[in-house]
Amino acid sequence: MKIRFAKYKDLKKIIGIYNQAIIAGNATGDTKEINIKDRKDWFNEHNSDKYPIYVMEFNDTMIGWGSISPYRKGREGFKETAEISYYLDYNYHGQGYGKKLIEYMIADCKRLGIKNLLAMLLEINKKSCSILEEFGFSKWGFMPDVVNIKGKRCGHLIYGRKIYSDDEKNASIHPNNRASADGAKSTHKGL
Ligand SMILES: CC(C)(COP(=O)(O)OP(=O)(O)OC[C@H]1O[C@@H](n2cnc3c(N)ncnc32)[C@H](O)[C@@H]1OP(=O)(O)O)[C@@H](O)C(=O)NCCC(=O)NCCS
Repeated sequence: MKIRFAKYKDLKKIIGIYNQAIIAGNATGDTKEINIKDRKDWFNEHNSDKYPIYVMEFNDTMIGWGSISPYRKGREGFKETAEISYYLDYNYHGQGYGKKLIEYMIADCKRLGIKNLLAMLLEINKKSCSILEEFGFSKWGFMPDVVNIKGKRCGHLIYGRKIYSDDEKNASIHPNNRASADGAKSTHKGL
C-alpha cells in the first residue's frame, strides 16, 4: 500500500470513487454523479505544498483518495484552518485502509501549516464520525436538517481537531485540548 500526491491523470479514477459515494447516498451532499469537467477546477486549486490531494494505491491500483482543502476559500483569516475529505473504493472498505489514509493526512498537516482541521459530514455517516472521534476529532458544529438527499433530510456535522506544533505540545499551551491534540483516544501513535 502506498500514498502519494495525485496527478491530473488520476482525476478520472478519483471521480469514479467519488461517484460510488454519491450512489451510496450517505457520504456526500452531491446527488448526481459528476464528471471530469465538474472537478477540473477543484483539482487545479489543490497543490502538494498547501492543499494536497492524496491517492492511496494497492498493487498499483488506486483504492482511495483524500484532500485537504481551504475552508472559506480566499479569506486570509482562515489560512490555518482546512477541511479534510476522504473516499475509499467501496470494494476496499472495512479493511483498515481508510484509517491509514486519514492518519497519513493528519500527520501531514504540520508541514502544511494547518492548525485546525475540519471535517464536514452528513449526520447519517456514523462510520466516518466514529473514525474521526478515534483520531481525536470532536463535534464542533451541527446544522439540523439542512441536507435533503432525494427527499430524505438529515443534519450536517462539523467535526474538528487541533493540530499542535511540537513546541506547543511541549509547552502545554492548550491544556484543555491536550487530549485531542495527542489523539488520546487513538491507537494511532505518531500523529
Ligand atoms: C470513511 C471511509 C474512508 C473509511 O474507510 P474504511 O477503510 O472502510 O475504514 P476502516 O476499515 O479503516 O475503519 C472502519 C472503522 O469504522 C468502524 N465502523 C464501521 N461501520 C461503522 C458504523 N456503522 N458505525 C460506527 N463505526 C463503524 C469499524 O468498526 C472500523 O473501526 P475499527 O477499526 O475500530 O473496527 C470509507 O468508509 C469511505 O470511503 N466512506 C465513504 C466516503 C465517506 O464517508 N467520506 C467521508 C466524508 S468526507
